[in-house]
Amino acid sequence: MSEPSPPVRRRRAPFDELAPPAGPSTTLMHGAKRPERNAGAVVPPIYQTSTFHYPAEFSDAAADGAVPLYTRTENPTQEVPAELVRRLEGGEAARVFGSGMGAITTTLLALLSPGAEVVAPEELYGGTLDLFRGLLSRFGVRVRWVPHATPDAVAEAVTPSTRLLYLESPTNPTLRVHDLARWSRAARSAGAWLMVDNTFATPINQQPLSQGADLVVHSATKYLGGHADLLAGVVVGSEELLARVDAAHTVVGSVLDPHAAFLLARGLRTLALRVDRHNQNAARVVAALADHPKVLRVDYPGRSSPEEEAVAARQMRGRGGMVSLVVRGGLPGARRLLRGLTLFHVASSLGGVESLASLPAETSHRTLTPDERAARGIEDGLVRLSLGVEDADDLVRDLTRALDGL
Ligand SMILES: Cc1ncc(COP(=O)(O)O)c(C=O)c1O
Repeated sequence: MSEPSPPVRRRRAPFDELAPPAGPSTTLMHGAKRPERNAGAVVPPIYQTSTFHYPAEFSDAAADGAVPLYTRTENPTQEVPAELVRRLEGGEAARVFGSGMGAITTTLLALLSPGAEVVAPEELYGGTLDLFRGLLSRFGVRVRWVPHATPDAVAEAVTPSTRLLYLESPTNPTLRVHDLARWSRAARSAGAWLMVDNTFATPINQQPLSQGADLVVHSATKYLGGHADLLAGVVVGSEELLARVDAAHTVVGSVLDPHAAFLLARGLRTLALRVDRHNQNAARVVAALADHPKVLRVDYPGRSSPEEEAVAARQMRGRGGMVSLVVRGGLPGARRLLRGLTLFHVASSLGGVESLASLPAETSHRTLTPDERAARGIEDGLVRLSLGVEDADDLVRDLTRALDGL
């Protein structure tokens, strides 16, 4: 006889309340405490277990939420980072996943059915593009693409079948900024949900729910974890939407292992400190290199036009730690720049304490054709920088030396 599937998540033990208003650093330090449940431990422990003992009278335990049942459905260690991100984003509920793509895929499978339409800008992370263009289209979900979306283009793309508007802001890798409040108005008027990938901004710099989004997703692999040592995803939204996501989560199985959940919670404690430094370092690099003769273009949130600068100033507290440089000499020039850097790891991904440099044409957006990349401003000579928390002077010196050598 096969085992019954675990029931969908039950009522959980509450975390201690935190007197409002608490700033982000205070929230990260005190926002997920319930020491009486953890033998008084100041640092929540790792429940490294796949399953849990439950009383013979299972229904009683289930009714009061006293015991989790199975780690694919829930585990107390996963609840700690979920609660911290929930509080930072200002949502009712949050769940963690085994990766950012796991979070995105599970949520879309939970909310969309054949015949549904999604409206999205063309500038998205390559994996998300692959999901929209491949898997989802095989299940009868159609995506209406809007070229770098002006609000009018969004409103025109919406049809009675639109269920979801999906975007990233700032975008990967050209760091364009979308007006979240306007997208949210378009979603409202269509009776659709707005889902925002907030990976690049982090909740320290931008809180999409406060701008009218219904769901926020993160690749927690990046800034939230912050140390390039784990894969994770987080989704934040209303209790009602997250209950739908739970039903898919438990069968899709993109689960955050308890040890990785512990590392994520540990990384989150310093998120506000780290993001301040990332913001400062990126701003310093832009100021120092914008006029370098080997740099043809600098991508940075708000730089592409006065309109985007106004939007960024309104909806972002800081501009984040990402900068893209289009350098002279196309792909060979970009490769030479990478070879000349000594303080940057040449690696894909972003958001860790160490600086990284990569070529999106060969990494995050390699599955696009050259024409598709060109249409999105992803030139072969575009080098994406994830500025870490090193000293800004050293990063600027390293970049300047490598650019001078081109
Ligand atoms: C903006 C963005 N969203 C989602 C993802 C996917 O996250 P993960 O690699 O954790 O699955 C990435 C990965 O690079 C990303 O850059």
